[in-house]
Amino acid sequence: MEKGKLKTLVLRYLKEEQMLGKEFLFFNREDIDLPDDFKELQLQCESCKRCSLFKTRRNVVFGKGNKNSILMLIGEAPGEKEDIRGEPFVGAAGELLTKMLKAINLTRDDVYIANVLKCRPPQNRDPKPEEIEACKGYLFKQIEIINPKIILALGRHAIKFLTDYSGPLSAIRSNVLYYKGIKVVPTYHPAALIYHQEWKRGSWEDLKLARRLYDEVGTQKG
Ligand code: URA
Repeated sequence: MEKGKLKTLVLRYLKEEQMLGKEFLFFNREDIDLPDDFKELQLQCESCKRCSLFKTRRNVVFGKGNKNSILMLIGEAPGEKEDIRGEPFVGAAGELLTKMLKAINLTRDDVYIANVLKCRPPQNRDPKPEEIEACKGYLFKQIEIINPKIILALGRHAIKFLTDYSGPLSAIRSNVLYYKGIKVVPTYHPAALIYHQEWKRGSWEDLKLARRLYDEVGTQKG
């Protein structure tokens, strides 16, 4: 039997055992039962019912871009346009994001873009802790497979997800943080920049920092 299939069967069996009350320590790893193959991961995510957002979503927004990139961008959750199109950052915030990338000579095809949540919260409300909990394995696994060198964390939810930091952005901006050895550049969410023009200068500094790291690391993955 193919290794992947065997793994799926074993994990399903263990999961059933766990649901019957047995404890397995390794189930504390939230991504353990997710496939290592990116396409399979996407397919599994697209039929996900781990939280109640599946009831209201039109599409799962798994992520998009260059899976070989050394730079990943992580946002919060899909909005209405993203939910309709099934792609991240295609609304007003997305237009700004495209311009921000252009300002550092990158296109959306140069990077991989994903969100903390893969389904739209109704009325674009903040993600609930239990939704993040249910969804986190997908993003952890995406990061593991893509294996970027740098992550641009867009806004407080992405920053908290990756670093557990939940204080003011102003206190950590312009610092490089780390997630499992990957450089994390914390910056403003583009949607916030639309309403706070005064944050654009800081955002530009963060983008230049991300670009500098991108050039330092080079385009070849180690
Ligand atoms: N805001 C996000 O955080 N992600 C999107 O995909 C769109 C808007």
